[in-house]
Amino acid sequence: MQRHRRKVKVMVMMTMVFIFIVVEVSRNAGKGDGNKNKLLIPSKRFWAKDVPSDAYWNRQQQQLNYINNRNLENLNSTIEKIPDWLNDTVSLDTCEPDFRVTTQVKDYSSLPDRFKDFLLYMRCRSYPIVVDQPNICKDQPFLLLAIKSLVPHFDRRQAIRESWGKAGRLANKTVVTVFLLGNAATEDHFPDLSQMLQLECSMHGDIIQWDYRDTFFNLTIKEVLFLEWLTTRCSEASYVFKGDDDVFVNTIRIIDFLSNLSHAKAKELFVGDVITNAGPHRDKKVKYFIPESVFVGAYPAYAGGGGYLFSGQLAKKIYNASRQVALYPIDDVYTGMCLMKLGLAPEKHKGFRTFDIEEKYHNNACAYNSLMLVHPRSPQHMIKIWAWLNDPALNCQ
Ligand SMILES: *[C@@H]1O[C@H](CO)[C@@H](O)[C@H](O)[C@H]1NC(C)=O
Ligand SMILES: *[C@@H]1O[C@H](CO)[C@@H](O)[C@H](O)[C@H]1NC(C)=O
Ligand SMILES: *[C@@H]1O[C@H](CO)[C@@H](O)[C@H](O)[C@H]1NC(C)=O
Ligand SMILES: *[C@@H]1O[C@H](CO)[C@@H](O)[C@H](O)[C@H]1NC(C)=O
Ligand SMILES: *[C@@H]1O[C@H](CO)[C@@H](O)[C@H](O)[C@H]1NC(C)=O
Ligand SMILES: *[C@@H]1O[C@H](CO)[C@@H](O)[C@H](O)[C@H]1NC(C)=O
Repeated sequence: MQRHRRKVKVMVMMTMVFIFIVVEVSRNAGKGDGNKNKLLIPSKRFWAKDVPSDAYWNRQQQQLNYINNRNLENLNSTIEKIPDWLNDTVSLDTCEPDFRVTTQVKDYSSLPDRFKDFLLYMRCRSYPIVVDQPNICKDQPFLLLAIKSLVPHFDRRQAIRESWGKAGRLANKTVVTVFLLGNAATEDHFPDLSQMLQLECSMHGDIIQWDYRDTFFNLTIKEVLFLEWLTTRCSEASYVFKGDDDVFVNTIRIIDFLSNLSHAKAKELFVGDVITNAGPHRDKKVKYFIPESVFVGAYPAYAGGGGYLFSGQLAKKIYNASRQVALYPIDDVYTGMCLMKLGLAPEKHKGFRTFDIEEKYHNNACAYNSLMLVHPRSPQHMIKIWAWLNDPALNCQ
């Protein structure tokens, strides 16, 4: 009896509390009746203010983010004046060397020359195209093979043309091949190869060349220039493979893989040998060394630059995104950054072997049959493997 009464009391109390809440909420809701349907614009920013990073790349990116979010920032013009470090007086897109980096990067004078060069020209994204192939994609290729090469690598390009990069029909699909080159300037002590290159261009018509120094740190320039070329000259390509000139690509297997993709998957395809949880190397002796004064933070997931495969539709989006990402001296990491900007990530496919396969399988035809890419391979080996794969007698069951 006692317990029952207590229970009723509690229930009555809870009901009263509930009624009180309902009344209060509806009373408060009524208060702002006049502007019921008005958009509430916050008068102050509701996100954290940026603090300038100590690392140069990160600071450049903060400026780019500021510029690209300016409309948001200026919703209410009474918002505080932006700090000077964010309000850069020099355009973020200029090809004049930016000598301010000599003081803005703490240890500039002690950095290796390639960093000095990179930092001075980090804002420059446009270089003249000197050899173009404006009509090479007129047949709307199913697959565009875009191969990063260097002017002196004549033999690698020829081996690719004679093997996995042969343009035309393959497995009943149209394949188009282009080689991406910068210059081989005498300032970098290259012998004069211009006439040989001219001959190659006139023989094959598959060279695209821009006038910039073709160095390791400028590979990101190659990426950005290629994406721009792709959106203007080859926007109808269904898929794009971009990779190095020292890889073997099983083009047959790639076409087979692409032909089987579902429509949904195909739209935002980006597959390769994906590296996750990586960050900048701090050991000066490593090729990929990046000092703390240049970049801090982790790398996004990225597909190893030896070769990756993506859809033509996504290529346009990556190009768009690239304009909002400061150039970074390592090209495959940079592409990962652009994908992250789009809220996407590359997908790992175990057929991409940028770190090679076991030595004992190097001359085993069937080892290549189910793979998409193997790195590295010599020109001779490329031709040999391609012949094996195209041998009607090959039986890998
Ligand atoms: C901007 O914010 C102030 C208060 O900080 C407010 O008085 C003013 O109406 C706002 N202006 C606009 C355009 O929203
Ligand atoms: C940016 O700097 C320039 C030159 O110092 C100045 O005139 C301008 O008002 C600044 N802009 C903002 C939004 O603070
Ligand atoms: C080749 O492709 C065309 C269309 O692209 C198709 O009509 C034809 O049936 C295909 N041929 C074979 C043998 O698959
Ligand atoms: C990249 O190319 C430009 C144009 O040729 C050159 O000025 C710059 O030094 C190069 N950068 C690197 C890091 O090689
Ligand atoms: C693609 O589909 C064909 C037939 O439907 C099949 O034989 C082949 O193994 C598939 N390839 C891949 C990469 O899934
Ligand atoms: C690229 O950006 C422009 C302008 O911001 C936009 O109009 C266009 O739709 C974008 N294209 C793609 C493929 O995202």
